[in-house]
Amino acid sequence: MPETHDGRLQLYATAVEAQHEAFARDVARGLSSLPKWLPAKYFYDDAGSRLFEQICALPEYYLYRTEKAILATYAADIAAALDYLPLVELGPGNASKTQYLLAAYAQRGQPFCYCPVDISRTMLCATAQRLVATYPQLTVRALHADFAAQPQALAILDLPRKAIAFLGSSLGNFTPAESVAFLRQLVALMRPGDAFLLGIDLKKSPAVLVPAYDDAQGVTAAFNRNLLERINRELGGHFDVRRFAHVALYNEAEGRIEMHLRSDRAQEVAIEALGLTVAFAEGETIHTENSYKYTAEEVAALGQQAGLRLERTWFDPRRFFLVALFRPC
Ligand code: AVI
Repeated sequence: MPETHDGRLQLYATAVEAQHEAFARDVARGLSSLPKWLPAKYFYDDAGSRLFEQICALPEYYLYRTEKAILATYAADIAAALDYLPLVELGPGNASKTQYLLAAYAQRGQPFCYCPVDISRTMLCATAQRLVATYPQLTVRALHADFAAQPQALAILDLPRKAIAFLGSSLGNFTPAESVAFLRQLVALMRPGDAFLLGIDLKKSPAVLVPAYDDAQGVTAAFNRNLLERINRELGGHFDVRRFAHVALYNEAEGRIEMHLRSDRAQEVAIEALGLTVAFAEGETIHTENSYKYTAEEVAALGQQAGLRLERTWFDPRRFFLVALFRPC
């Protein structure tokens, strides 16, 4: 049952773990480990989400632009390949890329259904309201859920058939093993003939990859340091963020961009809400993000391990990015 029902807009809600407790627990765990780490999912508070929007507009960050261009160019083809199935999108944000697919669905002149699933309720509701106002044939079933932690929450939407879209190369922020485990959970919710649409960044020269994560204007550096500012704001941390350098490198062996924050001196940082003082050696790093890059063959193999068969692929002319359609085997 939807939580609220307003004409063509239905809002479904699941219990989303209180962010504050999870953040405190994960920060304590990550900063007490060696090497130190922090989960990348905590980048996206209000300040971090605004910085991520700025990243998407940077000349060096080709991912957003390139995927958007693929969707804009091939929207009609992709929508037809998805059989115009109800479209469930994981983490749509403001749906700025999906809008091309929705426009292609609308072009058919028949009723259609879009189900955005997001952890941010504010963003979810704003996106849903804008879309129902744009497309008279559209019904939106919006789901407020932490789909990364609980993919099985999608079952509440009770859709007999569906296409699940996971765009933006967000799968790249999981390790390959986590990706397979996550995809398997999605496959368990799918039926024969359902579809899975994946947008994923491809392997390329580090001369292109590294600047995408270490831009000239320092927006990605601010995005990375915002994690420490968030600890200061929410947990009474005493980080002097200027004492931590933004580091982005391509780990060729692992096929991933890594982001770190490197302490420029030996220092101790108290975090009041955790009753913890964290000691840093000079040059010691906190590992804050992995962004895996794949070849098209590796993407097919990843899908196969999860029970998905690759059916169609769409690339940009430089083959920087891939939009791939899978079916459950
Ligand atoms: C959200 N995710 C796909 C981005 C990426 O490219 O891995 C996050 C990001 N980190 C730094 N810049 C962008």
